Amino acid sequence: MSFPIVVLISGSGSNLQALIDQSLQGQLNINICAVISNKADAYGLERAKNAGIPTHALDHKQFESREAFDTELQQMIDYYQPKLVVLAGFMRILTEGFTKHYDGKMLNIHPSLLPKYKGLNTHQRAIEANEKEHGVSVHFVSSELDAGAVIVQASTDIEASDDADSLAKKVHSLEHIIYPLAVKWFSENKLTFHNGTAILNGSTLPPTGILYNKDIE
Ligand code: GRF
Repeated sequence: MSFPIVVLISGSGSNLQALIDQSLQGQLNINICAVISNKADAYGLERAKNAGIPTHALDHKQFESREAFDTELQQMIDYYQPKLVVLAGFMRILTEGFTKHYDGKMLNIHPSLLPKYKGLNTHQRAIEANEKEHGVSVHFVSSELDAGAVIVQASTDIEASDDADSLAKKVHSLEHIIYPLAVKWFSENKLTFHNGTAILNGSTLPPTGILYNKDIE
């Protein structure tokens, strides 16, 4: 039986595509039951349709409050009874009630080496701060933005020639490796969440999770 997940997006959906590709290649035993976007023109919805996955566009602007949107979104997600909700470029601040409902069952990917550079424009901010390295983190979602327990990070050097675009490309290619990996661990019950911390293969992970290298499976 493949593992049911729902993916939430707002944009291009390249991380969604990485999950689709790995599941088609048999590396991930997941069933993407639905892809939901708060933007009707998100390209990721096309990617999902091309893969035969049910899609929904739920425009947050049609709701009078954040709570009302999150309540409707929650109902839409729960219809599919997923065991995991995957935020893949879902550009919304979530209400506490929503995050509590999926406590320990919702992952996000953030393009920085958390706890550094929460929020937006992470690549530019890392360059401006003269960082030597930058990267990406996969974490459990908590009620505080980009602050839940980190599972895995991957890093890349910042070269003198890098600008925000070139750095974003390098980070994106790392995202497409570590996000499917974290989803795989969760779907195989190797990754769990307990009392605010991430546990992998029975070991409590440090606050920055584990650092990806090619030998990790
Ligand atoms: C990624 O950079 C991810 O880290 C961030 O949003 C972006 C989504 O990209 N949370 P894509 O839509 O998966 O291509």
